[in-house]
Amino acid sequence: MDIELYRGYFNSLEAGRYPEWRYNEWKPCGVNYNSVLCAMSYDIHHRRFRDYRKESEEVMALLDLNANQSVIDIGCGTGAFVIHAAERCRKVYAVDVSKAMLRCARRKAKKAKLNNIEFHHGGFLTYEHRANPVDAIVSTAVLHHLPDFWKFAGLKRLAQICKAGGKLYLFDVVFSFDMNDYESRLNQWVNATGEKVGPTFAEEAKTHLREEYSTFDWIMEGLLERAGFEIETAHYANEFMASYVCTRKG
Ligand SMILES: C[S@@+](CC[C@H](N)C(=O)[O-])C[C@H]1O[C@@H](n2cnc3c(N)ncnc32)[C@H](O)[C@@H]1O
Repeated sequence: MDIELYRGYFNSLEAGRYPEWRYNEWKPCGVNYNSVLCAMSYDIHHRRFRDYRKESEEVMALLDLNANQSVIDIGCGTGAFVIHAAERCRKVYAVDVSKAMLRCARRKAKKAKLNNIEFHHGGFLTYEHRANPVDAIVSTAVLHHLPDFWKFAGLKRLAQICKAGGKLYLFDVVFSFDMNDYESRLNQWVNATGEKVGPTFAEEAKTHLREEYSTFDWIMEGLLERAGFEIETAHYANEFMASYVCTRKG
């Protein structure tokens, strides 16, 4: 057992801050982002099919982010979004449960001489936002690390730290195909992932299906609405991934 991995969790239990039944988001499920190797190779793999600057610009445009505003990136990983957001916004809170991923993001921020990013070791269920509520929250490819009930709990916590009228951008694995057809559709997804972005990601897709918690469009929409967000746009690019722009209800 990796003691380091559980230290934060047990420390918080000891401090009596959380009930013992709360989901342990510190313990990785599926892909192990706590691994230094995984963190260090993340950008190499992802930059083969992602343009971090372009996608960050798109997200910032969708959220209408400007120089006076603050934004939280939950599950910021190696900083794909936060580095670009910090060039544009007043303040960025970069939050992740993986110290290894945070270390990579911090290194990039230092190199880019960005001093308006606050890094926090925490997650959907544990991050304590001590500043004023933010104008926007972003989360890209993270929420599938929580089972559905805990997705709701995490989203509800986000709604509490987002200004009324503030925005949420959420991108994740969300299935919008006919669920009666799941076997053939999931096989297609794994194969198409292998063809488009290579064998490493085909393996990740299999790991995702076995060990992580993707959900259905109708569940995700219900969770967002019930947690306090109004869905402005829901975009189902293919039948496997989805992005939502939401407004925090007043
Ligand atoms: C696929 S990576 C995405 C990273 C980044 N958002 C991006 O777009 O490149 C998933 C990230 O979510 C983090 N993570 C997993 N569970 C989390 C949780 N409950 N709260 C916050 N971050 C979490 C992992 O440590 C990892 O950095």
